[in-house]
Amino acid sequence: MLIETRGLKKTFKSRGKSVEAVRGVDLSVKEGEIFGLLGPNGAGKTTTMRMLSTLIEPTEGQVSVCGHDLARDPAAVRRDIGFVGQEGGTWGEVTAREELIMQGRLYGRSKRDSAARAAVVLESFQLDEFADRMVKTYSGGQKRRLDIALGVMHEPKLLFLDEPTTGLDPQSRAHMWDEVRALRERGTAIFLTTHYLDEADALCDRLAIIDHGEVVAEGTPLSLKKEVAGDVVVIGVGDRHAEAHPLLSGKDFVREVEAGEPDPATGVALLRLYVDDGAAALPELLRALDGARITPASIELHRPSLDDVFLKQTGRSLREEK
Ligand SMILES: Nc1ncnc2c1ncn2[C@@H]1O[C@H](COP(=O)(O)OP(=O)(O)O)[C@@H](O)[C@H]1O
Ligand SMILES: [Mg+2]
Repeated sequence: MLIETRGLKKTFKSRGKSVEAVRGVDLSVKEGEIFGLLGPNGAGKTTTMRMLSTLIEPTEGQVSVCGHDLARDPAAVRRDIGFVGQEGGTWGEVTAREELIMQGRLYGRSKRDSAARAAVVLESFQLDEFADRMVKTYSGGQKRRLDIALGVMHEPKLLFLDEPTTGLDPQSRAHMWDEVRALRERGTAIFLTTHYLDEADALCDRLAIIDHGEVVAEGTPLSLKKEVAGDVVVIGVGDRHAEAHPLLSGKDFVREVEAGEPDPATGVALLRLYVDDGAAALPELLRALDGARITPASIELHRPSLDDVFLKQTGRSLREEK
C-alpha cells in the first residue's frame, strides 16, 4: 500500500472552539492508482490531504505514506511526494522554465540536472511553447498545468492534487484529466480531492466519499454505484406529495422511497424511488398514481450515479451543494 491510515483525526482549536474536521478516517491507496476523495465543501478533504503530505500534524491516528511512518519520518515522506495545493503558486514575474529550475534546485538537483528535468517536464505537460514567457500571461488552464509540472519536478512516487480542476473551463478540465492519466501511465500514483461527481466517476480508479470528516463509502466508481442496486425513478407530484409517498412505497417492487431534492419548477420535493427494474416499474407506477387521480408533473428514470451513492449514505445530494 502506498498510503495507509488508521483512525486519522484532526481537531482544530481556535478561540476556545474546536472543530472536528477529520473524525477517524481509514484509507488504503495502492501503488499506481488514481485515488479520489469526493465530498462537499467543508467535508475535510483538504485537511486530510494536508495531514498526509506532512503540512499539518494529525491529532490522532496512524499513517504510512510511501512506506514511511508519517509521525516518525516526515522528511522521508516529503522526498517521495509532490503536493499541488488548491490555490496553486504565484502569478509571478518569472517564466515557467525558471520556476521549474528553481523547484529542481530546491530539491537538491544541480543547475544542469534541473534544466534537463525542466525540459522534459515542459514537454510532457505541453508547456514548451510558452516556457520562456512570463507566467502572468498564462491562461488558467496553462497555469494549472504548470502547478502540476512543479509538483512532479522531483519525480515523486505519489502526487497530491487538491481540487485540480476547480475553476477551469470544460476544455481545460478534459486536458487536465488526460495529464493526470498520463502521470499514472508513467508510474506516479495520484491522490486527488474533488467535489465534482463526474470527475470522481471518470478519472478515479478508486475513491472514498467523505462527509463531515468521515468516510461514508469506499470503492471503485462502479462498485459504489452497484451498491445502489437497480434503477432510480424520480417523480414530481407537486402538492400531492403526502398522498403519493405511501401509495408508491406500498408497491412490492419499490424498495425504498425518499423525499428527494425540490423540483425546480414547483419547489415541492421530488420523490426518489429505488426499484429493481425501472422499465418494468414505470407503467405500474403511473397506473397507481392514475388510480388516485394524481398526475405527475415530471418523471425521470436513471441508472444510479455517484450522487445516488452520496444521497443514500447522507440523505443529501452532492449536486445541490455549491
Ligand atoms: N485551520 C483551521 N482552523 C479551524 N478550522 C478549520 C481549519 N482548516 C479547516 N477547518 C475546518 O475544517 C472543516 C474541513 O475543512 P476542509 O478540510 O478545508 O474541507 P474541504 O477541503 O473538504 O472543503 C471545515 O469545517 C473547515 O472550516
Ligand atoms: Mg478543500
